[in-house]
Amino acid sequence: MDIIQRALVTGGAGFIGSHLVDALIKNGNHVIVLDNLVEGFLENIQIHIDSGKCKFIKDDILNADFMLEKLPKVDIIYHFAADPDVRSSVPNPLNSFKQNVQGTLNVLEYARKYKIDKFIFASSGGTVYGDVDINLFPITEKIALNPISPYGSSKAAAEMYLTSYASSYHIKSASLRFANIFGERSLHGVGYDFFNHLNENPDVLNILGDGTQKKSYLHVSDAINAILLVADNLNNQKSWYDFFNLGSEDWYTVNEIADIYEKELNLSNVKHSYSGGSKGWVGDVAKMILSIEKIKKLGFLPKVSFREGVHRYCEWLRKNL
Ligand SMILES: NC(=O)c1ccc[n+]([C@@H]2O[C@H](COP(=O)([O-])OP(=O)(O)OC[C@H]3O[C@@H](n4cnc5c(N)ncnc54)[C@H](O)[C@@H]3O)[C@@H](O)[C@H]2O)c1
Repeated sequence: MDIIQRALVTGGAGFIGSHLVDALIKNGNHVIVLDNLVEGFLENIQIHIDSGKCKFIKDDILNADFMLEKLPKVDIIYHFAADPDVRSSVPNPLNSFKQNVQGTLNVLEYARKYKIDKFIFASSGGTVYGDVDINLFPITEKIALNPISPYGSSKAAAEMYLTSYASSYHIKSASLRFANIFGERSLHGVGYDFFNHLNENPDVLNILGDGTQKKSYLHVSDAINAILLVADNLNNQKSWYDFFNLGSEDWYTVNEIADIYEKELNLSNVKHSYSGGSKGWVGDVAKMILSIEKIKKLGFLPKVSFREGVHRYCEWLRKNL
């Protein structure tokens, strides 16, 4: 494994970013976290700040002056700061553009100015491909990007800027197109909602859509292993820019997920009520499973099953909510 001296993690106080910070520090790196704390929590990384191995900067990727004038140079950028909310991007499309496209451009300009030649980007496999014909499942990286939500468009647009910066300014870069990542410290997503709703009302669970939406999920510990693998491979990567789907090889319907959370909470006879329609909300991709053959060639294999991941997550939620 490469020993990387200094890494910048934008959004490093958030769910995935903070797990990445744990792993980078465990591997001997020095980490700078830039996060405006709109969604992240300092306590996710406090232990590393106290140890002196992580420098925390509360600022915003939209503050280009700060990024270009005050942020120290690093060896690699992990760009995870974003507005990750797919659903709210439909009524607020300009916010995804600002945070996820303009914000990414600011981070890329910082990379260009300081000649930072390694860049990892948190993209989204669940949204950039849009509604793909089910006969083409599992979705490979060869499928055209065809997002159906402003959030998906913002991630696809950010990827397009990354590919041009990568080749114009010689930045070895990779995007990871995540399926649904879940686990400890996550405060959004279907599992978080089900856990809370079932605790509030163990008799009835309200489900968005008709419950047949079917997607793949990956535990955050597996996601972190994959991110590090792709980052370590940047030096061997033949092209300036590459992109990898990242998910698991199984997928679950919302009804199945409800059953799994109910079992985890020792509940039986929970009545399900449905908002109706084949999608959870406008802009929702109802069915999605990614092919992970490409990233498997780098040596990736998910280790945590969905059920085991849900168990770990529920243990964490019980202790922390
Ligand atoms: N969780 C998933 O299933 C999933 C799936 C696909 C892609 N992603 C992407 O992965 C990344 C991390 O997602 P997450 O689930 O950990 O979300 P999160 O909300 O927990 O983390 C995002 C972090 O970015 C910070 N942030 C937001 N806007 C910022 C800004 N303008 N300046 C500085 N910091 C800012 C937030 O405070 C937060 O700490 C995001 O880019 C998201 O789009 C996540």
